[in-house]
Amino acid sequence: MTLLDGKKLAKKIESSIAKEVEELKDKGVVPGLAAILVGDDPASHTYVSMKEKSCKNAGFYSIVHKMPNTISQDEIIDTIKMINNNPRIDGILVQLPLPEHIDTTKILEVVDPKKDVDGFHPYNMGRVVENLPAFAPCTPVGVMEIFKEYSIDLEGKDICIVGASNIVGKPMAALLLNANATVTVTHIYTKDLAKHTKAADIVIVGVGVPNLIKEDMVKDGAIVIDIGINRLESGKLVGDVDFENVSQKCSYITPVPGGVGPMTIAMLLSNTLQAAKRRVK
Ligand code: GUN
Repeated sequence: MTLLDGKKLAKKIESSIAKEVEELKDKGVVPGLAAILVGDDPASHTYVSMKEKSCKNAGFYSIVHKMPNTISQDEIIDTIKMINNNPRIDGILVQLPLPEHIDTTKILEVVDPKKDVDGFHPYNMGRVVENLPAFAPCTPVGVMEIFKEYSIDLEGKDICIVGASNIVGKPMAALLLNANATVTVTHIYTKDLAKHTKAADIVIVGVGVPNLIKEDMVKDGAIVIDIGINRLESGKLVGDVDFENVSQKCSYITPVPGGVGPMTIAMLLSNTLQAAKRRVK
């Protein structure tokens, strides 16, 4: 069994981004990322501060707009419009989830697609589905980078995705289809989850349920990608896969932490750098 070391790969990517940032600075451009953080969800605060730290390390300009839970939809929209027009900002990230009284779709549609480094705008999502150049969501792109790094061939592979969210499952399916894999997307209404996971060469799971994927649900030699990040009552961080037992059976597996998570941030920086390069052109 080989561990897919996302942490190491993310470090490698981030240091090459930092070098490119130095070169861009010589041309008078500093990549800029603005985050919008609404409410006081501790996980969201942790994610945003990790993203901010990575931005600083890579030499980006980075700002965070922190807003209270009680903020109105119109105020968030006005802030995004202001950032859309800020020439120092290349990328905009709206940390999800937003509070219940906010219409997430409406908010995401206000982000300028050229600054949509999270790839959540329907314009980018549609282009990803059509295999056209676009910002694709960072977590699925991070998974694709892991496959590339470890020379895992996707063509013709049977891949089972567990979870059909807009952020992970759906764009993951589109990227894999574009790589000529045969993709099955399962979700909470799937009648027999194990039937699908067991048949797959590669299982990709991101639903937020600790230990959902057990050893009897994957075939011998399968490749397992765990996108879940769950904090147990003990404080321990675990994924959606029963790592201890599943890892005995598979050929490759991502650990949690240190697997897909760091890659999400590296891809956010990569998308933002790409947006900044367009500014130079
Ligand atoms: N919430 C959970 N994952 C993500 C992510 O990748 N980006 C944003 N903006 N919010 C999230």
